[in-house]
Amino acid sequence: MHAAVVRSFGTPPRYDTFATPADSAPHEILVDVLAAGLHPRVRSAADGSHYTSDGTLPLIPGIDAVGRTQEGELLYFVAPDTALGTMAEHAVVDRRRAITLPAGTDPVAVAAAMNPGMSSWVALRRRVSFKPGGSVLVMGATGNAGQLAVQIAKHLGADRVIGAGRDPRRLDLLKSLGADEVISLDGDGDGDGDEVADRLGRTAADVDVVIDYLWGRPAQQAMPALLKARTDRSKALAWIQIGSMAGQDITLPSYLLRAANLNIMGSGQGSLATAGILAELPSLAEEIASGALTVDPLPMPLDQVEQAWSAPTAPGQRIVLTP
Ligand SMILES: NC(=O)c1ccc[n+]([C@@H]2O[C@H](COP(=O)([O-])OP(=O)(O)OC[C@H]3O[C@@H](n4cnc5c(N)ncnc54)[C@H](OP(=O)(O)O)[C@@H]3O)[C@@H](O)[C@H]2O)c1
Repeated sequence: MHAAVVRSFGTPPRYDTFATPADSAPHEILVDVLAAGLHPRVRSAADGSHYTSDGTLPLIPGIDAVGRTQEGELLYFVAPDTALGTMAEHAVVDRRRAITLPAGTDPVAVAAAMNPGMSSWVALRRRVSFKPGGSVLVMGATGNAGQLAVQIAKHLGADRVIGAGRDPRRLDLLKSLGADEVISLDGDGDGDGDEVADRLGRTAADVDVVIDYLWGRPAQQAMPALLKARTDRSKALAWIQIGSMAGQDITLPSYLLRAANLNIMGSGQGSLATAGILAELPSLAEEIASGALTVDPLPMPLDQVEQAWSAPTAPGQRIVLTP
């Protein structure tokens, strides 16, 4: 079969031939892959930097996809953590890691939106017991996952959703996706971050939940800013760490954990059982398929995988490879 193949972690995948995998257990089934999203997680697995990477080469990248069985059933599935990913003409699906999609579902929209969408969907439904009427700050709201987090928080009944990010055009667009307010994380130059911290403290001090795709410097500015400006410091603040686009580490002054009711947690592979994540997928797929959540996919044929790896995308746009 044809596939995207990584033979060295230093170079992008190439369109190549690869032995077609075979289903070998009763819960496995071979499918034709229709669409696979090029998510940040796919890139980090393909360059060997993801925390689940075990260094196996060659590998086919791709962590999830939409595929069709011989009988015509449409499936969204999550690939196993092996070297056989989804960016190929065929993939073996573990039915326990798959859900059936309604006939007529747009495979490209689902492949684009499930991974970024599930980050906030699962976090708000499984990591915290988010209640309608609550308020949410999304750090990194201008990316794919962030813009879906804004919509999903609203969809789950948030009274107030604040989006924080750098790109001014995308921040403006967030308002049309449901953000009540936006905060620019830009503007400090080489300064000490006071300007951004002031903005965060003024606008988002009393939120119930922070969904954080950035970590690094923005999180380090935002945590003290929010907690110091909080009307009631004993009111719980759930800080859900989901991505690290701005850095792997922060310095966390110990007083923040004493002087306020700060609960830092993560949401991702490992912090939740796979079964718990999978249980959330049908309802999310339904929202994507119905058009309730706005997504912006950029389909590209699989034979252009090398170009896709370096193709510029507009903020909020997700490349989807179509075999
Ligand atoms: N744990 C999970 O379940 C899960 C699931 C999905 C995604 N994720 C993670 O979530 C993160 C975001 O994913 P995505 O799909 O939204 O990626 P994306 O579409 O590429 O968006 C990334 C966003 O990060 C912003 N950004 C990058 N560096 C920044 C910085 N230094 N300061 C402020 N903003 C910065 C970018 O803003 P600019 O436009 O300003 O550069 C962009 O808006 C990734 O780390 C991904 O691995 C986790």
